[in-house]
Amino acid sequence: MKAEILKALKEAGGKYISGAVLCERFGVSRQAVWKNMAALKEAGYEIESVSNKGYRLISSPDRFYGPEIESRLSEENILKRVMYFEELDSTNIKAKQLAEAGEEEGLVVIAESQTSGKGRRGRCWKSGKGEGIYMSFLLRPPVLPTQASALVFMTALVVAESIEKYFGISAGIKWPNDVVVNGKKLCGILIEGSAEESTVHYMIVGVGINANTEEFPEELKKKATSLFLETKKKINRLEFTTELINAFDQYYKKFLEAQNLRPFLEKYNARLVNRDKEVKIYYGLAESANPEKIETGIAKSVDEHGALVVFVNGQEKRVMYGEVSVRGILDYV
Ligand code: BTN
Repeated sequence: MKAEILKALKEAGGKYISGAVLCERFGVSRQAVWKNMAALKEAGYEIESVSNKGYRLISSPDRFYGPEIESRLSEENILKRVMYFEELDSTNIKAKQLAEAGEEEGLVVIAESQTSGKGRRGRCWKSGKGEGIYMSFLLRPPVLPTQASALVFMTALVVAESIEKYFGISAGIKWPNDVVVNGKKLCGILIEGSAEESTVHYMIVGVGINANTEEFPEELKKKATSLFLETKKKINRLEFTTELINAFDQYYKKFLEAQNLRPFLEKYNARLVNRDKEVKIYYGLAESANPEKIETGIAKSVDEHGALVVFVNGQEKRVMYGEVSVRGILDYV
């Protein structure tokens, strides 16, 4: 309700909107309107209320705030509900709990910080307050589990394109779904889900973006970067986050129509930073001290199933996401 009221206040463009109009529009009591106004004021919105005239928005705070994000999402979106938390263990865990409890598709869970941010392959994702964008989308695509894996690639493409569009810096993708700027990782994506043989119950798409991180610990300096470090400016997380959610939504609808990777493959491959690079393929527990096997080859492209095509000793191999991990021969890419 706060988001709807906020939207109405913004649409009024600084003019008064009466309490009666708001009650009628949202089918709620005057007291409910008053309560929501009080909550918005508490959150830092300056709202003037004058009897016989109504309410007027004077200024908005410059902070990450759930109803503010929700009020900026398109009405046509599938992703149009936002839950915002100052702190969570992990937005993926929260979204998963909500999904298990029956929450509908289209929810975005955002946290200002995470105490146990989850990375791929059991790693943790550093999630300090104010530094990053940590969010998870709850989706219930009516597709086969095998088809749902296209989301892994689609999400990386949306993030890379949005970064480029919004900040004017070129962003590539390291297979399968790390978003990379100037050879360093800027965004990680963790997709988890629940499915049976032919049914997807839900998918959680977790996105972690290094936004305003000023410095990384020594061990990450060579392979991680942030929007701040790349643009030399503190970024407005609120605006970028809403752009990104809206862009994701558009692509998600394309995915639902196609039910495969085809609409995104060409664009994805054009951003593939592994292309024509010598890579090491780690089989089994890639990051462990004892991977089952390591091979070296030249990466070419990603096929319509999401497999990375690599030439190993002149022979074409297709390696599958989830089964292997790929690193550059010397560096991260
Ligand atoms: C990776 O290892 O590259 C994936 C990192 C994914 C991190 C994000 S932050 C938001 C969401 N919640 C989590 O706990 N993890 C993902």
